[in-house]
Amino acid sequence: MPNFADLMNSFEPSGIVEINNTATAMKADCIDVVNLSIGVPNFSPPSHAYDAGKAAVDSDIGLKYLNSKGQPELLDAFKNRLEKDGFSYDLNELCITMGGKGALYLLFRALLDEGDEVVYGAPYWSSYRGMIKFCGGVPTDLPCSSAQHYKLTPEQLDAAINEKTKIFLFNNPSNPTGMVYTENEVAALADVMKKYPNVWILSDDIYDKLIYDGEKFHHLLHSAPELKDRLFIMQSVSKNYGLPGLRIGGIAGPEKVLKLLPKIVGQTYMNIPNISQQIAASVFSGDHSFLTEVKDNFVSRRNIAMHAMEACGLTCPMPSGAFYVFPDAGVYMGTSYKGTPINNGYDLCKLLLEEAHVATVPGEEFGAAGCFRISYACPEAELQKGMDRLVGFFKELKQSQVA
Ligand SMILES: Cc1ncc(COP(=O)(O)O)c(C=O)c1O
Repeated sequence: MPNFADLMNSFEPSGIVEINNTATAMKADCIDVVNLSIGVPNFSPPSHAYDAGKAAVDSDIGLKYLNSKGQPELLDAFKNRLEKDGFSYDLNELCITMGGKGALYLLFRALLDEGDEVVYGAPYWSSYRGMIKFCGGVPTDLPCSSAQHYKLTPEQLDAAINEKTKIFLFNNPSNPTGMVYTENEVAALADVMKKYPNVWILSDDIYDKLIYDGEKFHHLLHSAPELKDRLFIMQSVSKNYGLPGLRIGGIAGPEKVLKLLPKIVGQTYMNIPNISQQIAASVFSGDHSFLTEVKDNFVSRRNIAMHAMEACGLTCPMPSGAFYVFPDAGVYMGTSYKGTPINNGYDLCKLLLEEAHVATVPGEEFGAAGCFRISYACPEAELQKGMDRLVGFFKELKQSQVA
């Protein structure tokens, strides 16, 4: 058999998808698993989204080839959405992409040469690493402990940047930790970036509407507008609007780079389906008041999860964004449960799945050993059931250490 590409030997598949598949298979075997592994919002989009999709099927361009940059309706809606958030962009500084993942892939392809470094705080969203490597770059994690609330400090960023650094990747609010950076914290990171004019900045803002407790979204560009000529804003309808299956994202940034992206699209997948684009346009430009209820529900579930973490005796910084909690189970590393050693997050999450029937994601998938991620984007009753099981498991684990 002929060989496949060498690159595929080092390709890292998404660990989260694998855990989700295992949990789904257990459920199919009639095991009552509570699946808190995957970050899929469980709220329904507003009804105008469905109307827009139906109208798109019936329109003249319906299911034909489209341009590679994005449909005018969606580009306009994206432009206006950015404007409402205080960012001013021309249409030639925008591109519609195949979800946030598509945005990252296109940008890494357009910006990275072999050996270029991309720096970002860890815990990080797991796909960054694999995608950077796939595009020839070198992923460079900057470890941020639970003691520093998993947040990157300006000192860490400053110390990490060197002549090989090509991109600083910043995700706020964060997946997997749910942390939201304050205005001062963002400003301090922006100050560091002012010192490095040869480094691009990629701001992954895809959870920016999911912020709680009266906290506000602060952006690097709000602190330092002069970074605009080397900064990219990345957006998606997957999380804020609960539409991950649409596969719609967008990038705003310097025209010099933005005009390259449709060229890559044109030579690969050509365009994103019109149905998805029209639904996304209606959601971007439609009434956002449904988000109030969405956020209230998330806060109530976040509180259930945080109470449970306390009852489990785990260190867990309070998240005020996205829909994840990220406990640090470091105290249990090196212990065992009924004879099974717990040396890392993989061991722990395997036990949680097999013994407590709760699917969570090991922190190692996000560059944080001994931690694990819980997604609370599921019905409240299901979350409560999962939390009760975790509390029971950790009580038993704790007692077995004392005995
Ligand atoms: C931080 C972050 N960025 C990007 C993405 C990609 O989202 P999508 O491709 O669904 O838009 C995700 C999805 O989980 C994410 O959590």
